[in-house]
Amino acid sequence: SRLGIPYRTGYHFQPKGYWMNDPNGPVYYKGYYHLFYQYNPFAAIPGTIEWHHAVSKDMIHWQYLGATLRRDQWYDANGVWSGSITFLDDGVPVILYTGNSVDNKQYQARADPADPSDPLLRNWIKASYNPIAETPPGYNTSQFRDPTEAWRLSDGVWRMLVGANYGDGGLIGTALLFKSTDFVTWNYSHRLHENPTTGMWECPDFFPVRVKGKKGLEPSAVGPHVLHVLKVSLDLNKHDYYSVGKYLLETDTYAPLNPAIDTGIGLRYDYGKYYASKTFFDHKTQRRILYGWTNESTSTMDDVAKGWAGLQSIPRVVWLDKRTSTNILQWPIKEVQKLRHGKITVKNVNLKAGEVARLMDVSGVQLDIEVAFKIPDVKQGATPPELLAESGPSVCSQKGASVKGMYGPFGLLVLATDDLKEQTAVYFYFVYSKKDGWKTLVCSDQSRSTVSTNLMVDKTTYGSYVRLYEDDKFLKLRLLVDHSVVETFAQGGRTVITSRVYPQDAQGKNAHVFLFNNGTEPVTVDTVEAWNMGAVKFVDYKH
Ligand code: FRU
Repeated sequence: SRLGIPYRTGYHFQPKGYWMNDPNGPVYYKGYYHLFYQYNPFAAIPGTIEWHHAVSKDMIHWQYLGATLRRDQWYDANGVWSGSITFLDDGVPVILYTGNSVDNKQYQARADPADPSDPLLRNWIKASYNPIAETPPGYNTSQFRDPTEAWRLSDGVWRMLVGANYGDGGLIGTALLFKSTDFVTWNYSHRLHENPTTGMWECPDFFPVRVKGKKGLEPSAVGPHVLHVLKVSLDLNKHDYYSVGKYLLETDTYAPLNPAIDTGIGLRYDYGKYYASKTFFDHKTQRRILYGWTNESTSTMDDVAKGWAGLQSIPRVVWLDKRTSTNILQWPIKEVQKLRHGKITVKNVNLKAGEVARLMDVSGVQLDIEVAFKIPDVKQGATPPELLAESGPSVCSQKGASVKGMYGPFGLLVLATDDLKEQTAVYFYFVYSKKDGWKTLVCSDQSRSTVSTNLMVDKTTYGSYVRLYEDDKFLKLRLLVDHSVVETFAQGGRTVITSRVYPQDAQGKNAHVFLFNNGTEPVTVDTVEAWNMGAVKFVDYKH
């Protein structure tokens, strides 16, 4: 449909049409990156979901391979739902996924490649002995899904997690641990971890990270140099929460390093539209890579009119922030930089209070922008104009980009028309509270992102705090702009925000970029580097 055309992306992964949600079973195998995804081939709404498949040599240029697992068994007739891939001893990948039956009961099932020598893994066969795991007694049969990649400890026993909930009103979110010696028979063992207030845990992901260094680890890595990340997707509010902690081998359980920011109540991967994410270990380049579903901010009716819904974020490398040990860092895979061209560099721009300055020679809807601001010396500042009773990330939505503070908001306007009637603002904002003193927010304000009256757009302003250190020289943002998505990485990936926007007039050469400072104190831009981004071509690998 014409309505959806300007909003289709140039370099993000999206199917040709209809509905996509979770990334499933990402792996690297025989020279190809494989991405499976939850897909409804009939309409741009969730519904008749099956696994579809695409392959790539760089996670940027893709070849569609169509349906991999269809709804053709009693245990998955109502949906072939999310899951993962594990490599067995012979290096052959095996799919574990959730089948949703016609009576809405969920079962875990297995599928094997028909021909493991095919690098494209085109055909898969569901195991004749499926399902391999049923809901343990005491749990809800329709809240039992999304098996993780399996791992093994020194006892040689395979383990996998399945998301679930239990207790009064199903409020206790949990990850159920299953064990197997042969990858065929799986027995429920116990709960790896739980949280009393978070509800259903969808799409758990449990993986090791190095205490030091950026390199990734294979799924079974344990030891003194290793911590673990436990991520879950909260059905309650559709956000991905994680914590960093210890995998306690004696009890086969997980304990967060800081219980105050336990999984489900603390940190998020992304403070915008980002859900049902999944990592994998890329053994070719030794990276741990994260995919996430970027859902629309348009209404269901608009999605049907657009003819499509859902993107995958640009894959991100994730590693532990060794300065805290309690958070991870995220950065777009370097492969995306191959699309950069027409670089412009701007240095030393002073932005007075209230100033908006257009970045000349850069325009368009496919951009990669990196900007570094000098850090304002807040200590010398006078009393802040407003004391906040309490500081929380909701401050981003209380104060849009147009609300003056002292230090900020300052940042970038992208997908902006000349008259600034359309603009997406990504900015820093220093807030002060008696309890916490000065803290730095990074926000993405969508309130003026479109003047369209045809679309019903969720224009919530998103954001969160970003940690600063004494030795930080700059306040940095990197923005990946692609038609209807803006991915923002603040301070080298300490805080990430993905926004969906649907500009009507800020299209093509009329989509400008501005620097702005809406604070009462001046700020200095040290450097801006901006590139246009080429569009990806769909490829056809022959084998
Ligand atoms: C998360 C989710 C999963 C489920 C799948 C169904 O978005 O609800 O829990 O397996 O999507 O498409």
